[in-house]
Amino acid sequence: MVSGMAQTARGRVIDSLAVQGTMKICIVGAGYVGLATGVMFAKLGNEVTCADIDESRVRSVSSGMLPFHEPALEKELAKAVKSGNIKATVKTVDAAKGSHAVFICVQTPSLPSGKIDIRPVKTASRAVARAIRGSDDHKLIVMKSTVVPTTTDAVVRPLLERLSGKLAGRDFSLCMNPEFLQEGSALNDSMKPSRIVIGADDKRSGYELARLYRQVKAPIVRTDIRSAEMIKYASNVFLATKITYANEIANICARLGIDSEPVLAAAGMDPRIGSLFLKPGLGFGGSCLPKDVKALRDGALREGYKPRLLTALLATNDSQPNEAIRMLEKSIGDLRGKKIAVLGLAFKGGVDDIRETRALPLVTSLLAKGALVTAFDPMAMPNFIRIMPTIRYAESAGDCLKGSDGCIVQADWPEFKRLGKKEFSSMRRPVVVDGRRCLDPRKVRASGATYLGIGYGLAER
Ligand code: UGA
Repeated sequence: MVSGMAQTARGRVIDSLAVQGTMKICIVGAGYVGLATGVMFAKLGNEVTCADIDESRVRSVSSGMLPFHEPALEKELAKAVKSGNIKATVKTVDAAKGSHAVFICVQTPSLPSGKIDIRPVKTASRAVARAIRGSDDHKLIVMKSTVVPTTTDAVVRPLLERLSGKLAGRDFSLCMNPEFLQEGSALNDSMKPSRIVIGADDKRSGYELARLYRQVKAPIVRTDIRSAEMIKYASNVFLATKITYANEIANICARLGIDSEPVLAAAGMDPRIGSLFLKPGLGFGGSCLPKDVKALRDGALREGYKPRLLTALLATNDSQPNEAIRMLEKSIGDLRGKKIAVLGLAFKGGVDDIRETRALPLVTSLLAKGALVTAFDPMAMPNFIRIMPTIRYAESAGDCLKGSDGCIVQADWPEFKRLGKKEFSSMRRPVVVDGRRCLDPRKVRASGATYLGIGYGLAER
């Protein structure tokens, strides 16, 4: 099928471009996904232009600096900017016009109803449509933003066609190509993906995108556009389900005086279950898992289907930060007037992202119970201060613990593992609730502190 496509007139255009070795690629949206995708294609020898409406973001990318914390990606971005393989601009239409392929990688945040906000997708689609209208070549347009199934067909395609006066599948190619990268390992996940999903409703579109990925070694899954959109949700909902299962088992274990760690480890040894994403904690946060579960639930409800599992995932996740508070109260009593140290504000260790962080409901509940909260995070503090300016912030983890009546570890930063006698013995009442099971319990206990791991804690009986 692929070689057949290469025989067609349009196929030859793409092949000759590939033979030249360099494709001009425009990435619309310079966020995590856009920059990881852009740097990956630049590293593979293509000429990449990242277009974003945010001028400060464009300035930052142009000087080889990321607007967020992702060291490995930043190093490669700096190299690509230096070699001239990546440029950034606010002129989306021009950038798209001068490119063979355009990836739409803009954000799709949650609205209060749980529905996703597709206004950025519409703005990007309009700009790309203007670029198609003004050029004679056959472009490949790729939707990479996470959108609920049917959005590409019902919103993106009509916008592209109406505003360009051209037809998808005939005058330009259109694909849906979801991403599966994790923050903290964005570049590696892009360069070595577990699979590349290519959703296309015509042969040529899928063929062109497969050609673009030809240097990336990964199984390729070809589907139609809607199925590609759904694969992204099916994947993230499963991850959220696995985490919630681990949390629920851990909560039950804690009440029975059982340590959930060996229980989940042994359960995960069954290949049908698998050991990854079985770590109990204070719930799943971040820009994707909560948003995707809510969006799929909303989409299902609109189709007249009640997704009971998705509703239960969200409810269980909402109450999970209370587990840490319950453990602390059991150990030190009423929290009114007590000084509580919260370590880790990011939605997980190693990133500065606070989107849907469990630290927000955790700190809010602590304050509602009258606790005096001091917080610390190695990277995410400036972001968290913006949403919660009133609590006290410490300069280091040690400073945060000093004089406190108890501590809750909210994010699994590796440096918290190094905390020892010096830091824990400076607490007024050394009680540590490890909300991510990321500390070394022996080290904490050796310092004279009480260690309570989530999913273990104090036995109820
Ligand atoms: C997630 C998915 O893991 C990626 O595959 C997906 O591509 C991405 O969303 C996306 O849709 O773009 P990410 O948001 O970076 O990636 O976060 P994760 O590493 O999945 O962590 C999510 C949350 O679950 C964090 O709060 C983390 O602390 C928590 N978690 C994770 C657990 O509580 N237990 C675990 O075992 C794993």
